[in-house]
Amino acid sequence: MRLFHWSLVLCVAVAWLSSGEIRKVHELAGYCAGILIISRLIAGLAGSGYTRFRQFVRGPRNVSLYLADVRHGRERRYLGHNPAGGAMVVALLTCVAGIALTGWMQTTDAWWGVAWVEDLHKILGNGILALVALHVGGVILASLRHGENLVSAMITGRKRAPSPEDLA
Ligand code: HEM
Ligand code: HEM
Repeated sequence: MRLFHWSLVLCVAVAWLSSGEIRKVHELAGYCAGILIISRLIAGLAGSGYTRFRQFVRGPRNVSLYLADVRHGRERRYLGHNPAGGAMVVALLTCVAGIALTGWMQTTDAWWGVAWVEDLHKILGNGILALVALHVGGVILASLRHGENLVSAMITGRKRAPSPEDLA
């Protein structure tokens, strides 16, 4: 999972930085990102524990209740993704999948030169920056609120031990 995350970050960063510049690098990095997304989808559907989408993907109502709790400074700590984090995971995975798909479509005879495909690729390709900014903001906020460094947890694989008031 951690390997997945930092590989994805690397692929997206390389694809973004090489966009419109070095075509071969851009496409290779983009396809690698696409393959990572497909493996994450399989893990999310067929995997176990905190990897499963069913474990952490909540409906909009749950997400807004959680965000209201955050605003009032009374949100609980989750051992897996919290409801807002879960929504962010879905948004990030969908966005990267959409970028890789529209990128690939531009290399096919059927879709090459189709304006909306190109536009969507550019909009999502740049829009992901905003998502990532929100994502990192959420990670920092949750880290501060719960007295743990989630970024180092994402490197070492260790999180603060569960306490009785934490939620799964
Ligand atoms: C291109 C940029 C990025 C993308 C596409 C991305 C995507 C993701 C995804 C999909 C997850 C969910 C992991 C899973 O359950 O499969 C995740 C989690 C996480 N990401 Fe990122 N990420 C990006 C950048 C970053 C950066 C720059 C940081 C740190 C500064 C970061 C820190 C984290 C942390 C700490 C988690 C775990 C959150 C938790 O414990 O709930 N991410 N990211
Ligand atoms: C996560 C992966 C990707 C990201 C973040 C990304 C991002 C971008 C961005 C921001 C642009 C706009 C550049 C500009 O404004 O001129 C672009 C252009 C483009 N991308 Fe991607 N892309 C990704 C994956 C792919 C893939 C997988 C392919 C094809 C295999 C692809 C093919 C293209 C093409 C053909 C263009 C137009 C290049 C040009 O007009 O010079 N991209 N991409």
